[in-house]
Amino acid sequence: MSETTFKIQRFNPEKDKETYFQEFKLEIPKGATLLDCLNLIKWTQDGTLTFRMSCRSAICGSCSVRANGHAVLACKTQASSVAQNDQVTIKPLGNMEIIKDLAVDLTEFWKKVEAIKPWLMPDEKKETQTTERTQSVEEFLKIDKASTCIMCSSCYSDCCSMAVDKSFLGPTALAKAQRFVEDSRDKETISRIKELSEDAGIWDCTHCGECSQRCPTEAKPLDRIVSLRTVALNSGVTNNYGARHAKAFVKSIKSSGILNENTIPVASMGFFNIPGLLSLIPVGIRMFLKGKNPPLIHHPMQELDDVKRIFKKFEEK
Ligand code: FES
Repeated sequence: MSETTFKIQRFNPEKDKETYFQEFKLEIPKGATLLDCLNLIKWTQDGTLTFRMSCRSAICGSCSVRANGHAVLACKTQASSVAQNDQVTIKPLGNMEIIKDLAVDLTEFWKKVEAIKPWLMPDEKKETQTTERTQSVEEFLKIDKASTCIMCSSCYSDCCSMAVDKSFLGPTALAKAQRFVEDSRDKETISRIKELSEDAGIWDCTHCGECSQRCPTEAKPLDRIVSLRTVALNSGVTNNYGARHAKAFVKSIKSSGILNENTIPVASMGFFNIPGLLSLIPVGIRMFLKGKNPPLIHHPMQELDDVKRIFKKFEEK
């Protein structure tokens, strides 16, 4: 059996100014996970190699690292599946500061989870404390997938929105929020969804889908964010930029089959939001000077009837 080169990013804050890579060679034992290999390297080659782990069973969520650029749960990933040409590059998770080697600082991550109030707030007046708060199967299924999240922070690590806006709540906290927003036993649905609709909340996700790709469970944060947006729209929590943008987007496509980039920014900002509208002017001028402004009158779309038929089908459904 050939050896695989594990190129592992190292950093010891007590002696290193910058991160660097160190190579370790290892024959991957049959069936070994990435975590098994990290442990073998630590036990047989360099005891100072630092990483987090606990359960080794994809339950505790502590062993996530980046393998070849993508976050993975090390104990759930077959080492042979990530080794390319007998090489694998291991780095710490992204969007967080490195503490040592592959261990990152999760302080901000946990603060964001805490910010969504991850606990049930039932209506105490309706309930007697001597009975269980039961749910029907249908009610439970609404929160079933979110409840499988093991808080491994893989989605948070690879979230593209987080990379450009550190204030964004992020996929983990939002997936966790859906579990409470749609819990039939919680009475704070509207106040929760209002808070989540503010800046840095549900509408700041850019749908890159990386969170769901990286999620090792059924929690799939992008789907949970879409659920939260649906709750917001269905509950009338729409007096915010994100909801107005979504509605303007749909209106534009439905009426003309195209995205009218002249009207969407104005509708998204709000017709009576004077400071907001004024803030669009510099952007408009820059676009005009660069020749990027959309035409005032768009060409009519030929297949508009098809688009309308799709909307009709969707609305009937
Ligand atoms: S060690 Fe617990 S999830 Fe991997």
